[in-house]
Amino acid sequence: MAEPKKLFIKTYGCQMNVYDSERMAEALGGQGYEQTSSPEDADMILLNTCHIREKAAEKVYSELGRFKGLKAEKPDLKIGVAGCVAQAEGAEIMRRQPMVDLVVGPQSYHRLPELEARTRAGQKALDTDFPQEDKFEHLRSRPKAKRGPTAFLTVQEGCDKFCAFCVVPYTRGAEVSRPVERVVTEARDLVERGVREITLLGQNVNAYHGAGPDGADWSLAQLIWELDKVDGLERIRFTTSHPNDMTDDLIEAHGTCAKLMPYLHLPVQAGSDRILKRMNRAHTAESYVRLIEKIRAARPDILISGDFIVGFPEETAADFQSTMDLVAEVKYGSAYSFKYSTRPGTPAAERDQVPEAEKTDRLHRLQALLTTQQRAAQDKMVNKTVGVLFERPGRLPGQMVGKSDHLHAVHVADCTADAGTLAKVRIISSEANSLAGALIG
Ligand code: 5AD
Ligand code: SF4
Repeated sequence: MAEPKKLFIKTYGCQMNVYDSERMAEALGGQGYEQTSSPEDADMILLNTCHIREKAAEKVYSELGRFKGLKAEKPDLKIGVAGCVAQAEGAEIMRRQPMVDLVVGPQSYHRLPELEARTRAGQKALDTDFPQEDKFEHLRSRPKAKRGPTAFLTVQEGCDKFCAFCVVPYTRGAEVSRPVERVVTEARDLVERGVREITLLGQNVNAYHGAGPDGADWSLAQLIWELDKVDGLERIRFTTSHPNDMTDDLIEAHGTCAKLMPYLHLPVQAGSDRILKRMNRAHTAESYVRLIEKIRAARPDILISGDFIVGFPEETAADFQSTMDLVAEVKYGSAYSFKYSTRPGTPAAERDQVPEAEKTDRLHRLQALLTTQQRAAQDKMVNKTVGVLFERPGRLPGQMVGKSDHLHAVHVADCTADAGTLAKVRIISSEANSLAGALIG
C-alpha cells in the first residue's frame, strides 16, 4: 500500500470553518491523506481562511509567506487556500502568492478531491462557484472514526440580511438550510462515534428552514425537537442567531427542551438606533432588550452572549454611550467585541470613518464593562450544582476539564469521571477564565 500523504490544515475564524476543516480532512482522507500537526511533514498545506475583518484576511498572506521556504525545499508540496478569503479574492491570491496551487471557496469543498488531483497533475486549481448541490452530502466521510464528546454540525449556511459592515452574504452566499433528515442522520452518526453534545451551526442558524420529512419547511425549534429524540445525544446548542429570527417556538424550546442548553449567542452589534439603522440591522435597541426579557421569562437562568462593533462609520460619542447603556441593561454572560474594520465591497466601507484612536478607546471601555459582567456571571455559579460534560484531562494530574450547561469551563481535581461523561458538579470557586468544582456523589 502507498504511504499515506500528509495534510496540514490551519483553521482561522469561526466555528463553521472548524466544521468545514473536519469535513475537508475527511474528503481528502478518501484521496489517501492523513492529517499532520506539522507543516514541515505535509504534502499538502491547506489554510482555511476568514475574511470577516481586515486583520484576519492579512494573516493569510503573512502565513503563506512563511511557507515559501518549505515549498522551495519540497517542490511536490501543494499549497491551498480555502474559506472566505479564497471566496473573496479568488485568483488574486495566486497573483499575489504564485506558490499557491489551489484556491477553493466554501461552497465548493465537495470538489476538493478533484481539485487536489489537478494540482498533482501540475495544474493550478481554482473553484469559487456557488453550486446548487449540498456540499456536505458530497463530502465523503471516512468510516466511523471515534470522536470527542462535542461536535459542530452545520445546518444552515449563508446570510440574506446584508448588515452594512459584513462580508458574509458575499463570501458564503444566500441562506441555505440542509434538510432535517440529513442533519438527523449526521447527528446519529456523530453520537455513534462518541459525541454527546452537538452545536448546530449557521451564520444565521435561527433562520433555519430546512425541508422536513413531511415536505414542509421546518423551523430550528422543530429540528431541535427532532434531535431531542436521538438517544445518547445529551446536549444541544446552536450559534449564531439574529434577533429578528428569534421565533416564539424557539424561545419556548429554551424553556421546555431539557437537552437545549441555557446559553444563547444573540449579537446586537450596537445600542444606538441611529447606528443600528445605518447598519441595516432592522431592529432597535428597545426591541432587542424586550426580546431578551421574553427569552429570560422562558428560561430565567439563560446566559446571554453577544457581539459588538465599536467605531462603525459616523458613530458619535453619544451613540457609543447607547451601546454602553444597553450592555448595562442586558448584563451579558460572555461577549465578543471588535473595532469596525472596513471590508471592501460592503456599503459601510464608503462612509465617514471614525478615527482609529477613538475606536481603540471605545473598545477598551466596552471590554472593561463586558469583562466585569462576564466575571459576575461566573461568580454567581459558586455554590451551585451544574451539569458538566467532561472533555479531557486537565493540566494537573487527576484533573478533568469540561463545560458546564452555561458553557463555563470547569475543572475538577481528583476526578473519577471520564471524558464523555455528563456529571453533576458543585462549583467551589470562580477563577479568571474558569470555575473549579467537585463531583457530587
Ligand atoms: N468589522 C468589525 N467586526 C465585524 N463583524 C462582522 N463584520 C465586521 C466588520 N466589518 C463582527 C460582528 C459579527 C462578528 C462575527 O464579527 O460583530 O457578529
Ligand atoms: Fe453578517 Fe449581519 Fe448576516 Fe450576521 S446577520 S452574517 S452580521 S450580514
